[in-house]
Amino acid sequence: MRVLVTGGAGYIGSHTLVHLLRADHQVLVYDNFSNSSPEALARVRQISNRDLASREGDLRDASRIEDAFARFRPDAVIHFAGLKAVGDSHGQPLEYYAQNVAGSITLLQTMARHGCARVVFSSSATVYGEPDYLPFDETHPLRPQSPYGRSKLMIETIIRDWVAAHSGARAILLRYFNPVGAHASGRIGEDPRDIPNNLMPYIAQVAIGRRAELAVHGNDYPTSDGTGERDYIHVEDLARAHLAALDALNRIAGCEAINVGTGQSTSVLEMRAAFERSSGRPIPYRIGPRRPGDVARMCADVRKAASLMGWQAELGLEEMCLSTWAWQSANPGGYGE
Ligand code: NAD
Ligand code: WQD
Repeated sequence: MRVLVTGGAGYIGSHTLVHLLRADHQVLVYDNFSNSSPEALARVRQISNRDLASREGDLRDASRIEDAFARFRPDAVIHFAGLKAVGDSHGQPLEYYAQNVAGSITLLQTMARHGCARVVFSSSATVYGEPDYLPFDETHPLRPQSPYGRSKLMIETIIRDWVAAHSGARAILLRYFNPVGAHASGRIGEDPRDIPNNLMPYIAQVAIGRRAELAVHGNDYPTSDGTGERDYIHVEDLARAHLAALDALNRIAGCEAINVGTGQSTSVLEMRAAFERSSGRPIPYRIGPRRPGDVARMCADVRKAASLMGWQAELGLEEMCLSTWAWQSANPGGYGE
């Protein structure tokens, strides 16, 4: 299949590319490299021993996307591109709506013009907000708590309406839980540009000595040890979920939202301890206050992913930590070094 991958140079995109190429799909990456490096694509080519095309461009640049579609003629789109920092989105909401929402509209308009009727979209568990019950199933009420989360819900809604209006159009909205880990080779991984907001890259930078200690955001939650619990999903499992979704588009009608997680939750202190074991490095920590907007616990009901896509997570905490450490220790400065 000919697959156009927006945001393919990013963390989750780059891992997905390796699986797409190995499955003999033809790929065009469309990315403005605002949060990634062309070096990631070079490494994807090395790991997979296959070539892929890439086009530097912004989602909001209608004529550039048009040109990419006219030349590449994709059968399907995997749409990763967008801004993703929850905290940042409170300070610059319009940037999030312009890039994420308006950018997605431009993409869908171009797809419609070219008769490209299949899309897999990167949504997020953040669309659920505060849980009424756990695990979250896909029918749980949607109450995102940030401009970022609301941009994801808006895009979900727009894709649903677009599918309903175009006969033959199909979409899968993948609601990722907490993606972590890296390719086992340590050649590609998550490369945050500033101080990491997320737990796993922060821990990895403490382990390598770039940060002094981990600040644990609260230990007074109603969880097993008082620290926040999340459903961490290995990025390699997540990458496979995109191939399963492309395949499932042949079988579903319309548009489906599907959780991508493991169904298990892990606390901050459990993750810290697992990383110490895998890296052999000490991870000093200090308990700090709660982070505003955090929920105590999240985890996915993963039954729909199994029944509709035949997909389930296979990798556990140890593989998540070992692969993150392989990436971090081989690339202490990320792609920049
Ligand atoms: P990332 O920032 O590493 O990748 C996003 C890619 O999109 C980058 O290569 C960036 O340069 C590109 N991009 C951003 N804005 C663009 C624009 N306007 N035009 C063209 N390209 C643009 O992020 P990621 O972690 O790989 O996330 C991929 C997708 O998954 C995002 O949509 C994100 O919201 C979603 N998601 C991520 C997580 C997570 O924790 N990583 C969780 C849930 C959902
Ligand atoms: C995990 C746990 C923190 C950092 C975010 C987005 C979500 C999705 C995934 C995009 C929490 C604790 C963290 C630190 C800590 N992204 N923590 N010290 O907040 O569950 O989800 O990323 O869609 O939308 O909100 O992930 O990794 O930031 O936090 O104690 O330095 O680790 O409080 O309990 P989160 P996270």
